[in-house]
Amino acid sequence: MKFKSVKGTKDVLPEESHRWQAAEQAIRSVMHAFNYKEIRTPVFEETALFARGIGELTDIVGKEMYTFIDRSETSLTLKPEMTASVIRAYIQHNLGELQPLTKVYYLSPMFRQERPQAGRLRQFHQFGAEAIGGPNAEIDAECIALAVAVYEKLGVKNFTLKVNSVGCEKCRPAYKEKLVAFLRGVQDKLSPESRERLEQNPLRVLDSKDEGDNALTRNAPLMKDNLCEECANHFSRLLSGLTSLGLSHEVDGRIVRGLDYYTKTAFEIITGDLGSQDALAGGGRYDLLTAQLGGKPTPAVGFAAGIERLLMVMEKQQLIASNDIRPVLFIAGADDEGRTWARSKAFELRRAGIACETDLLGRSLKAQMREADRQKAQFVAVVGSQELQQQQVTLKNMSSGDQTTVATDNLSAELQHRADSK
Ligand code: HAM
Repeated sequence: MKFKSVKGTKDVLPEESHRWQAAEQAIRSVMHAFNYKEIRTPVFEETALFARGIGELTDIVGKEMYTFIDRSETSLTLKPEMTASVIRAYIQHNLGELQPLTKVYYLSPMFRQERPQAGRLRQFHQFGAEAIGGPNAEIDAECIALAVAVYEKLGVKNFTLKVNSVGCEKCRPAYKEKLVAFLRGVQDKLSPESRERLEQNPLRVLDSKDEGDNALTRNAPLMKDNLCEECANHFSRLLSGLTSLGLSHEVDGRIVRGLDYYTKTAFEIITGDLGSQDALAGGGRYDLLTAQLGGKPTPAVGFAAGIERLLMVMEKQQLIASNDIRPVLFIAGADDEGRTWARSKAFELRRAGIACETDLLGRSLKAQMREADRQKAQFVAVVGSQELQQQQVTLKNMSSGDQTTVATDNLSAELQHRADSK
């Protein structure tokens, strides 16, 4: 029987993992520059956390969660997103006690049983951040700046920041009625999916992917034009905050997001380089979630972004990180004495942090040289009983062809020096 990875999941193979590492390193360094600290939460949580947090009527909760009953009859779910988990941890560990504004970030796998296609997986990875504890639009602007800064750091081009306000519990109900009244007028012509959404989650009709729906709703009322005074002020402070940070943005009244917890700010970062799965990142404010999950009412804002989509865009834009994981030194053994010495010297150098390789397959000297070449080792030393007697080896620089003789005792210092002065 032959096994294959499960549909919608992907292996990251040794030849491509350096691209993930480069992206993750850049993400961490930007997060740290903005003074966000990492949080890690378990891969699964109680199902009710997501059902309550994300919303029973969303696609994620209704159709996409990996939910199972464990052996003690508890319903558990592989996390489809991080915000609910982060807020659960925030409440459970009283993180708000330590500081008035808790700023956390994460890199984590997520699980959603969606129809797989390019840029849409069933196990995918997100990086994201949450700022918990303040209502001010300036926090939203900082959070958006953080997302943009990651793409800038990695050299990504051609992305658009779209922002909207989805109002609050005061202004949204009246707007919803207005929208539903409008949608009832075109109901018969809407796609089956939008007709279903009209009943369950009418705002989501506005971000239908169906061209026909979009034409029908071109003149639909938008939340951003029906905000209460507080939400309108918040939105205008957000927009001026973004402008003062020099972040170009587009107001798009159709950004409604697929999760129910948003209040006021909603935003997405879209790219033209990925076809239909064009959302690189999404987020917004969720002032009611903490109370909904059993904590003290605490305003918060955050975003998350797909790492696979980031890497796809980087590939498309030819922003490929170079693979610099290669041996500094390959020690080739010319005879048995040389091979034994090579193994123990390699161990010594590795303990000193110098990437080193030697042959463990008993290959001929010629085959060892070929292997050193294939592995792109910077230096090669051939060692046999003769070299060991003289207590010196010849280091060959594989790119220039230069050779230097080095005392065996000085090998570590010499390589360290060469690596430093590179
Ligand atoms: P989301 O829009 O569901 O938001 O996901 C954020 C990003 O994750 C998307 O823009 C996309 O890049 C990536 N993504 C989502 N689903 C998939 C998939 N099936 N395959 C590949 N990539 C995917 C959230 O998850 C919210 N928790 C964001 C947030 C944080 N809001 C406030 N704080």
